[in-house]
Amino acid sequence: MIKNILVTGGGGYIGSHACKALAGAGCLPVALDNLVYGHEWAVKWGPFVKVDILDRMALDRIFEEYQPQAVLHFAAFAYVGESVTDPGKYYRNNVAGTVSLLEAMRDHGCRHIVFSSTCATYGVPETIPIPEDHPQKPINPYGWSKWMIEQILRDFDHAHDIRSVSLRYFNAAGADPDGEIGEVHNPETHLIPLVIEAALGRRRHVEIYGADYPTPDGTAIRDYIHVTDLAEAHVLALDYLFKDGETTFLNLGTGQGHSVRDVITAVERVTGRRVPVRETSRRPGDPTILVATHEKATKILDWSPRFSNLDEIVKTAWEWHLRSEK
Ligand SMILES: NC(=O)c1ccc[n+]([C@@H]2O[C@H](COP(=O)([O-])OP(=O)(O)OC[C@H]3O[C@@H](n4cnc5c(N)ncnc54)[C@H](O)[C@@H]3O)[C@@H](O)[C@H]2O)c1
Repeated sequence: MIKNILVTGGGGYIGSHACKALAGAGCLPVALDNLVYGHEWAVKWGPFVKVDILDRMALDRIFEEYQPQAVLHFAAFAYVGESVTDPGKYYRNNVAGTVSLLEAMRDHGCRHIVFSSTCATYGVPETIPIPEDHPQKPINPYGWSKWMIEQILRDFDHAHDIRSVSLRYFNAAGADPDGEIGEVHNPETHLIPLVIEAALGRRRHVEIYGADYPTPDGTAIRDYIHVTDLAEAHVLALDYLFKDGETTFLNLGTGQGHSVRDVITAVERVTGRRVPVRETSRRPGDPTILVATHEKATKILDWSPRFSNLDEIVKTAWEWHLRSEK
């Protein structure tokens, strides 16, 4: 029997890739998005519903119509800087929105959810690589909103037997290797698309925020995970929940760190173009290194990254940008 899976934020970057992975696994993804940041053109593998997760009556209609067996929950606002200047927007949309969704799930007997959490729940790491039992001390309202949702998910398990997998992504990057979808954030704040835009001449240069970090080349190091690897982990997490897996929390990263300069060099290597850069001061709250351990995801989900070497990430992102230029 085909399983209907509700995908909140299904018109967004990671949500749309997850819809493709779900369809590949024989499920029907029902993409829900309010299109504040998402794109209807990115919904290609199932029905689309333009709904806000804060609209409880609309959620009831969706649950009645599609009777989803599970939810992949991507819908959120995710601009760290904006969350500092407008925290209410983040707590309302991310936290209150998730409560609205979970209550709809409770009332319609839907008992499985995979949630997009983040390495931002760890704050400034005390150890590298970061394991899942590392203390969680977010340093901005975006990180706190995700931290709160993880706690709310524990509470909904205890009270209503809703089982969840919270996937703490590190830096999502790359595009569908078949070129059908890719990353389009507006405004864009992620490093790889920014470097590609600079290589294409669409922006004058790419900013390097801090060239004086205690790293081999002075720039900050991050763990880049290919969006298709993330999407596949969601399908495996659903499988785990359908087999009565318990509520759990997993990092999704590669265990490999790449500096800002490594990324710029990779873009120059893959594209054959020069990337103009401008060095500027560090941004407050940007940790020197963020790298995950992913042994727990490997053990519990039998997941490991397949597309996440840096050149592969850059190549798929580059091909997507060229295609979307036409
Ligand atoms: N991109 C990353 O590197 C990264 C890293 C860690 C965690 N995350 C999390 O992963 C999720 C997806 O990220 P993304 O990069 O695909 O972002 P995105 O902005 O492309 O996708 C989020 C989607 O949710 C939709 N949305 C937001 N609020 C909504 C609401 N109230 N009702 C309905 N739809 C709503 C937006 O329109 C958008 O399409 C987010 O929850 C984000 O916090 C992303």
